[in-house]
Amino acid sequence: MTTTFQAWWVSKQADASGAATQTASLRELADGDLIAGDTVIAVEYSSINYKDALALCGRPGVVRNWPLIPGIDLVGTVESSDSMDWAPGDTVVLNGAGLGESAHGGLAQRARVDGSALVRVPEALGSLRSAAVGTAGFTAMLSVLAVERHGVTPGDGPVLVTGAAGGVGSVAVALLAGLGFTVVASTGRAEKEAAYLTTLGAAEILDRAGLSEPGKPMQSQRYAAVVDAVGSHTLVNAIAQLNSGGVATTCGLAQGADLPGSVLPFILRGVSLAGINSVDASLARRQEAWARLERDLDVDLLDGMTDVVPLATAKENAERLLAGEVRGRTVVDVNA
Ligand SMILES: NC(=O)c1ccc[n+]([C@@H]2O[C@H](COP(=O)([O-])OP(=O)(O)OC[C@H]3O[C@@H](n4cnc5c(N)ncnc54)[C@H](OP(=O)(O)O)[C@@H]3O)[C@@H](O)[C@H]2O)c1
Repeated sequence: MTTTFQAWWVSKQADASGAATQTASLRELADGDLIAGDTVIAVEYSSINYKDALALCGRPGVVRNWPLIPGIDLVGTVESSDSMDWAPGDTVVLNGAGLGESAHGGLAQRARVDGSALVRVPEALGSLRSAAVGTAGFTAMLSVLAVERHGVTPGDGPVLVTGAAGGVGSVAVALLAGLGFTVVASTGRAEKEAAYLTTLGAAEILDRAGLSEPGKPMQSQRYAAVVDAVGSHTLVNAIAQLNSGGVATTCGLAQGADLPGSVLPFILRGVSLAGINSVDASLARRQEAWARLERDLDVDLLDGMTDVVPLATAKENAERLLAGEVRGRTVVDVNA
């Protein structure tokens, strides 16, 4: 018997001028459409991260094989597996590892994946909350782990989180505040989202406009650490405001992929820049991050930053995310 299922499907075609365009549509697929992998998963949830929004809205740079099921996250139940590590009935989470970029992703009711990057869904979180964490929350945790590895503690001074009302930013604010850090949240939606960010634990809200223009290479020292998801002038200004010996993590490019800065803070204040790559994180780092998310993330705050939407509305929710209208996290219930 052929199993069919619903999935988003990104295909590439030439427009009238011959230029390549990418479109996403909801399709009925069969297991035969899935590519090789040792583990078949009945997907429960995916989510909409910045990359998923780009892929669903036809923007280049994320999908690298066509046609492809988008979705860089999935949470679901193992249906069958040839991997020694997984058995039918296990609930698993997968973030990145090529999903939704070079391999079929999670915005589908079924997936066939390589079991080697799967992590068991943490018991205290369960499936829905693990999807709410998703790549954005996983990346926020990887950023916090990098700050900790650098030796920064709450007593060293405030931590700046940029893009604070977004997915990475919201989870980072909640995690850092929960760990006792004084969090300064930078956002373009200060008026609308101040109460939200304060509830997550931000001690101070900054208008992102103050960081987004070119600034002096060395500025007053304010922060022991920075968790940045924005890049460009925002990251450069944040680095210029780090205390001596501080660290900034960089994971995103919501403002831009450029880094128009100076080496002065690095050579005169000994600050560091730590790159965060969730896609290729080792299994050990994945397990560490998920264990810490289970321990340190306040699930009530997570629930408060999460919307759950049905599979068919993934694209319209992606458009809202790129328009800056989404705060926190959007989970996609692929069976709704
Ligand atoms: N390296 C990795 O492994 C990794 C993993 C996950 C995500 N990322 C990247 O991290 C970034 C955030 O991802 P996400 O899923 O959290 O996206 P998101 O939910 O859309 O959040 C991005 C936030 O950035 C801020 N922002 C948007 N445009 C901006 C601009 N022009 N200037 C300054 N700030 C701007 C907004 O926050 P405010 O409204 O609060 O200003 C927005 O909510 C993306 O670039 C994504 O690709 C990287």
